[in-house]
Amino acid sequence: MVFDFDTPTNRLGTDSIRWDSFDSKEVLPLWVADMDFKSPPCVIEAVSNRVQQGIYGYTHSPHQMNAMIADYLKEQYQWQVNPDWIVILPSVVSGLYTTVQQLTNNDESVLVPNPIYHHLRLACSSANRQFQEMSLELKDGRWVLPPRNELSNLITDKTTLALFCNPQNPGSTVFTREELKEFGNFCVEHDLWICSDEIHAGLVLDENKKHIPLASISKDISEKTITLMSLNKTFNFPGIGLAWAVAENPLLQKAIQVGLHQTIAPPSLLAYTATMAAIQEGEPWRQELIQYLRGNRDLVQEKIKSIDGLSICKMEGSYLAWIDCTNLHHHNPYQLFLDHGLATSPGSQFNREQFVRLNFGTQKSRLEQALNIIEHCAKL
Ligand SMILES: Cc1ncc(COP(=O)(O)O)c(C=O)c1O
Repeated sequence: MVFDFDTPTNRLGTDSIRWDSFDSKEVLPLWVADMDFKSPPCVIEAVSNRVQQGIYGYTHSPHQMNAMIADYLKEQYQWQVNPDWIVILPSVVSGLYTTVQQLTNNDESVLVPNPIYHHLRLACSSANRQFQEMSLELKDGRWVLPPRNELSNLITDKTTLALFCNPQNPGSTVFTREELKEFGNFCVEHDLWICSDEIHAGLVLDENKKHIPLASISKDISEKTITLMSLNKTFNFPGIGLAWAVAENPLLQKAIQVGLHQTIAPPSLLAYTATMAAIQEGEPWRQELIQYLRGNRDLVQEKIKSIDGLSICKMEGSYLAWIDCTNLHHHNPYQLFLDHGLATSPGSQFNREQFVRLNFGTQKSRLEQALNIIEHCAKL
């Protein structure tokens, strides 16, 4: 490997949400979704050069930015988008909240997966919108959406928007073309807008899968969809933060811009620099990252499968293992692991109490330590 993913990094005292929320001498914090790896050297160098300039005035999105993102989407996902369809945002989360606010009225409701990254639900509840949950089902070891007849039972004539997450967090499903077609066509037939959170797109681990943007499936689906993307996760700079929305439909382009530069601040100037450097030069690092994460995924999968009382699905994408602790018969598996020195994300955050989510975007030595704690707890 050219790049170093093995040397432990020290994030203590950096105001890291993940590392500085516990007493880390006592607790190994593998919860919030950022990684313990330095960003690619190309990103560090570009950001350092920009910092050295010493002037940090108001900065607009670089003129070439949208075209650069469009080229990247074509190269990575064979998705042809017009640069004019792209709207730059400070974060995916702000895009989720704006979408729900703008695409639904007070008396309308939203379809949301369950389990799901909590902000998809919170975007609905904070706007006082009703939501119906699409309970993901475990099929052939993968968490998939319910079949069409079940989806039909969930919606009413007041349902106007579906939120979706691909790769799925938690659960790590990388949806297939057939699954996307089925869900997208269902939404089109029922006249639902779609907001597809694809922030984990660059982190497909399964050797037989690739990320397919939902909106790339057909023009009909694209006309209904706002896709939210970012390089924050893949290149590990969420603390700098930049995202973008892709919307072919001018109505949706307009909706996603509401509040921008008013209540929603634009990205910082360093965010443009980091994102452009990652697009232009980050691919060799990303390829090695994927190799490293595959090794960690295999380690997690083998260990968890060997422990009585725990089970795990296929991990197709991202670095978040979704571990089913139901058969441990403990009232709070999250607390059990925490009491023994490992912070995971509690399943309750995603609406499934008997699960925990383990972040394996860390050095192998740390991951081994975490897995030993889990094994020890399961034997108690
Ligand atoms: C599915 C999903 N969407 C959005 C985010 C956060 O995105 P951002 O930091 O751009 O707001 C996360 C972070 O964990 C996530 O997992």
